[in-house]
Parts: sequence; C-alpha cells; structure tokens
Amino acid sequence: MIEMKKIEDTREQYIFTKMFDIEALNTRMVNRIDELGDQMNYTTNVRAYTTHSTLSFQYPEFSEFSKIVEEYAIECSIQMNSDYENHLTRLNHPFWKSLYIDTQVCGVMWGSKYASGEVAIPHDHWPATWAWVYYIDPPENAPGIYFPTLDYEQEIEHGMLIMFSGNLMHEVRSQEFDGYRYVVAGSILTNPWISGIQGIPPEDGPPKDGKVK
Ligand SMILES: [Fe+2]
Repeated sequence: MIEMKKIEDTREQYIFTKMFDIEALNTRMVNRIDELGDQMNYTTNVRAYTTHSTLSFQYPEFSEFSKIVEEYAIECSIQMNSDYENHLTRLNHPFWKSLYIDTQVCGVMWGSKYASGEVAIPHDHWPATWAWVYYIDPPENAPGIYFPTLDYEQEIEHGMLIMFSGNLMHEVRSQEFDGYRYVVAGSILTNPWISGIQGIPPEDGPPKDGKVK
C-alpha cells in the first residue's frame, strides 16, 4: 500500500513569459478555433468553448505553432537549470540534456474561446513537464491566468506565451468583458525516443521491452 503524504512546498515557482509576433499564424489559429467551435461540451477544466486536444497533430497552423512552443520550452528549461548552481552541470552533460531537454515535445494542444464571465477551474497538467498558454487579442478587462497556490495573477497580452511547471495549479477567474478571450494551450512532455540519444536511433522507435538499450 502506498502512503501519500502532502507537505506544503515553500520553493519558489518559475513563470516564464515571452512575446511572439506571429500575426499570420494567429489569424489562422483563431479562424480554426472559430470553425471547430466547442468540441468538449464544457467537460474539461476549461468551462468555455474548447477544441479537442489534438490540434497540433491535425492542422498545419497548430503543428507550425507547436515547433515555436517546443523551442521556447527548451529555452525555459535551460534558463531554469541555469538559475541554481547545483543544476548547472546538467546542461554540460550531453546525455542528460538530450534525454530531458532536447527531446521535449508538445504532447497536447487545444484552443479555447472564452465569453465574458467564463472560467477555467483550478487544475494542473501533471505529470507533464510544462504547462503553457498563449493569448491572441485578449479583450480589455479579460482575466489573466491566476495561480492560486501563489496567489498571483499573471496579466495577459496579445502574443504572450506563458510557460510554467506542469504541476503548478492555475485557473481563470470569472470577469466581465466584451468580445472573446482566445487561448491556445497545452502541455510539454519529454519523449526520450525521438532523437539524439546514443544507442536509440529514432528509426527504432520506442523499445518494445521499455528498456534503454
Ligand atoms: Fe491548464
């Protein structure tokens, strides 16, 4: 039997933000979110119009965007490891960097269209490595993203991509606004089989016995 202890963590959390100027892609993504409409029937943590979570596998504009997100996740991972001296050696260790950083992929991606007052209930993306959210033309007065365990609300802007640890709780609180709050969001997972690891050529795919050769 597993004993599960819950002990409060006082460690600081990292929230990364970066602005992207990708207007042509923004238009294509918003058009697709509009075209798909609500596919989840308010059954996920997002209580607003939301698509399936397979956008990056289905549509070229989201596949293109997933490359941007993956590159950013790697950038954030390097920064986070650089911020604590005991972790610095990892980045100089080719196997470690290859296994945990270079092989980060956008596992799931969905689009949401919030109307005034709509929310996302508190949740995390664990066991994903990172959770991320991207905003396209958020209306004035639209809510930001709120991290309840930090009691911190990150304000949002057009073109802002936010990246944070997959186990960090977050939500969208109800707020009145005009128009629609468009969001593209998802998770980053490490996929050690995709490339670059000595002894595991990508053409072999995942080892059938689950063991690293
Ligand atoms: Fe989320």
